[in-house]
Order: sequence, then structure tokens, then C-alpha cells
Amino acid sequence: MADLAVVGAGTMGAGIAESAALAGLSAVMVDVQNAALARGQETIEKDLERRVRRGRLSEDQRDEVLGRISAATSLEACAGVQLVIEAIVENLEIKQKVFSDLEGIVPGDAVLATNTSSLSVARIASATEQPERVVGMHFFNPVPAMRLVEVVAGPATDPSSIHKAIEVTEQLGKTAIEVSDTPGFVVNRVARPFYLEALRLVEAGGDPEQVDAAIRGAGFRMGPLQLADLIGMDINLAVSESLYERSYYQPRFRPSPLQRFMVEAGLLGRKTGQGFYKYDGSSSAADEEELAQSATPGGVTVVGDSELARALGTEPNGEGLKILALEDETVLAGSGVEVGARRLTPDSPVVELVGDVDPEIRDRVEATVRAAGLTPAWTPDLPGGAALRTVAALANEAFFTLEERVASASDIDRAMQLGANYPKGPLAWADELGLARILRVLDALREMHGDSYSAAPLLRRRVAFGNN
Ligand code: NAI
Repeated sequence: MADLAVVGAGTMGAGIAESAALAGLSAVMVDVQNAALARGQETIEKDLERRVRRGRLSEDQRDEVLGRISAATSLEACAGVQLVIEAIVENLEIKQKVFSDLEGIVPGDAVLATNTSSLSVARIASATEQPERVVGMHFFNPVPAMRLVEVVAGPATDPSSIHKAIEVTEQLGKTAIEVSDTPGFVVNRVARPFYLEALRLVEAGGDPEQVDAAIRGAGFRMGPLQLADLIGMDINLAVSESLYERSYYQPRFRPSPLQRFMVEAGLLGRKTGQGFYKYDGSSSAADEEELAQSATPGGVTVVGDSELARALGTEPNGEGLKILALEDETVLAGSGVEVGARRLTPDSPVVELVGDVDPEIRDRVEATVRAAGLTPAWTPDLPGGAALRTVAALANEAFFTLEERVASASDIDRAMQLGANYPKGPLAWADELGLARILRVLDALREMHGDSYSAAPLLRRRVAFGNN
């Protein structure tokens, strides 16, 4: 008798079964298609092979892990297990049918979990007679590598079902955070602005590579547009649309027309060979060293009373083009200078540049930034710059999520670090940058772009009460 059953042997099901087997549990994978079971098995074998090559697993261990995974085409194979994790297609009716069938097969004290990312646990559970044993266990892709599981309590879920889900998550060596049954749970919801802000910056004329570079400057491992290409533009759009619809059209979640255009044009990212970037083997990324040598600094003067101005090297009586080095969230337009420079914090390696200047001047400005050991990234002249507005929008969503009691503050932060690989939790990050600064950026963006930037009441209250 297996310790647990996984229904659906696709990307997620195979990953969950592999994680269970790696942790010493036995798992039966059930799929309606034999071909899917074979593919799932193959994916698992490939991943285990990689672990052997890297010396993380011996060949004997690999065989033991594989020996703990069995396959079946009938749900009957779930009879007797204490936990079933469903990871089939994201379709409410099909999921409801599977849960109602499972109820007749699996003993009454066993827990039935769904890995759904966009449906409500309550609706799936409504097809059963014992909704108290239905719980959400939302894993992240690739499952063997991602340490987070969002454990979702529906309104009828019994605490003992939650406990079981948490216990198994911990047995898998992963971290469980408890979340309420709300659209996008925590990670998919709080991460929405990461993509949307970058898309809006490209819509405002930003260059995708530069926008990514600017946002990476905040400490993210990948730029949002690179990540959207990796995930697939279609999947990303589906998540945006689902959140937008399920929130009754919250302007904050409004999908980007550019995203939709790219899906319609088949520019889905890596899987179609082109998204924001091309994946034809040629590198489009400019060679940093070549760039550094392509222009010499000079002919520009850095002005402004900021740490950044000092880092770039101010020349009080310098001549030529003036770069205004800012350390706030204002826009450059109307300041009387041609180029603005700013960064998120004094230890940020990237300097965002704004201004519409000739290529030759651009080169000189970039050379000035590189000469200071920093990386330049040109972004549109909008409040906050790319990095700060991204972190501000993430923090704002985290404040909404906290206020709506979807999860605790520490769980929200942990979820974003483990489930989305963020360098910091957005709530702690906002505290570090200053809540008043975050609010100023949101208010400035709201003035320019409307309700997509309404600040969370909790954030506004904290600033009003001097909790900056
Ligand atoms: P997938 O398309 O790779 O796999 C789905 C599998 O379910 C297929 O092998 C299919 O044959 C099987 N299936 C369909 N109907 C079935 C039935 N009635 N009984 C047994 N097997 C059936 O899908 P993927 O990406 O693995 O997603 C599965 C679930 O996990 C979805 O609910 C999805 O929203 C969720 N999820 C997906 C993530 C991802 O990054 N792909 C991340 C987190 C959750």
C-alpha cells in the first residue's frame, strides 16, 4: 500500500510523486492516459539521473527512489492511501468528477487534496459529501526543487485535514504556509505586479532587456520578462485573466494588452522560440566588456546632491550634458536637465537612466555609469523608476493580502521568497525602503495611471500613524 496517491502524471503530478519518493514515501501515480504515465516516469528518471551526475544521489539510491513510485490508470489504485493529491487538468467539472469518484474509493478518514492554482477549493469540495476532508496543496514548479506548498483551507475544511497536509508537506522537506481560499492564494496573487509593472513599462516605450536589467538591479534573480518567457506568455496571461475575473475586475489585476497581443501573435516565449527575447541559440545580450569599452566617459556632468551623484563623480564646474542624479521617486520631465539617473538603494548595482537623447550621448552617459562600477539601464520617465515601482506594487499587493487575512505577514514574506525566489519578503522590504516612500510612489503612479495603483488601506493607515 502506497503512502500517498497522486492523480495526474503531468508536470506537477510527476514532480509531486518524485518529491515523495525522494523523501522516502511510496507514491502511486494515476493518470487516464498510459502515455502520460510513461512521460511522467521519464521526467522523473531524467531528473534523478541529473542528481546522480551531480553526486547528490547514488545509483542505488536512485533505484530505491524509483522503486517507491508505481503507476496505475484507475482511481481504484487510491484505495487505502491516507492522502490523495490531485494534479489533473485545470478544469472545474473534471476535477469535481474525480473528487466525487475518489470519495467512494478512498477510506473516510483519508485527506483529498487539490493542487489547483486558480479554482476555489470550496467549489471543488462542493462536489463531495464530505467537504471537510478536501484541502488545497498548491505546489510550485519544478516541484522537486521548490520548497513551498500553500496549504489552502476551504470554508468546510476540517483542521485535521489541514494538519495532515502540513505534516506531509514537512515530510517532503518542504515548508507549508496556511492560506485562505481566495483567488491566486498568496504567491500567484502577490507576484502579479512583478509581471504587470514590467509589461506596462514596455507599453510605455521601455526596451524589454533594459527593463529586465533595471528590475534585476533590485536583487531579483531573473527579470520579469525573462521569467514570463520561461513560464510561457499564455500561462501567464491565463493567471492574470483568472485573477482579474475572480476579483470582479480589480483594476490592479487588469491584464496587459501587450501580453494578450503576444499570445495572439504566438510569441509565447521559450516554447515557441520567441517572446520578449529570441531563443534561436544566438545571444542577443550585449557583451558587457565590449560595451564597457565602446565609449569613454566624459562630456557629461553629474549634478545633484545625492550619494549617487557622488558615486558617479560630480564635477562642480563641468561642462556638456548634465545628468541629474536623483535618489527619490520624482520624474525628470520639467527638471531642465536631459538625463536623470537613480537607483533603488545606495547598494544597488544598477543605475536607472531616463531621458531621450542621441545614441552618442547615451553611450557617454552609460560609460560614466560603468566607470563607477555600476550597470546602466534605460527606463521610461515614470514615477519610481522600474525597480522601485515594482517593489512598491508588490508590497502593495502584499498589504492587501495581509489586510484580507489570506495569510500572516511572516507567511506572506516567506511564501514570496520560497515560492517566487524573491530576494526579500515584500512586507519586510517595504519596511526597509520606508513605507512613506512606497506610498508616495503608488500615489504618484495613481495620479498618472488611475486606480491600478490604489494603495492598500492598511499601508495608508500605517503611514498615517507614523509607522514609516
Ligand atoms: P499537465 O497538463 O502537465 O498534466 C495533467 C495530467 O492530468 C495529464 O497527464 C492528463 O492526462 C491527466 N488527467 C486529465 N484528466 C484526468 C483524470 N480525470 N484522471 C486522471 N488523470 C487525468 O498539467 P500540470 O501543469 O501538471 O497541472 C496540473 C494541475 O496543477 C493543474 O490544476 C494546474 O493548475 C496545477 N498547477 C500547475 C502548475 C504549473 O506550473 N504547471 C503550478 C501549480 C499548480
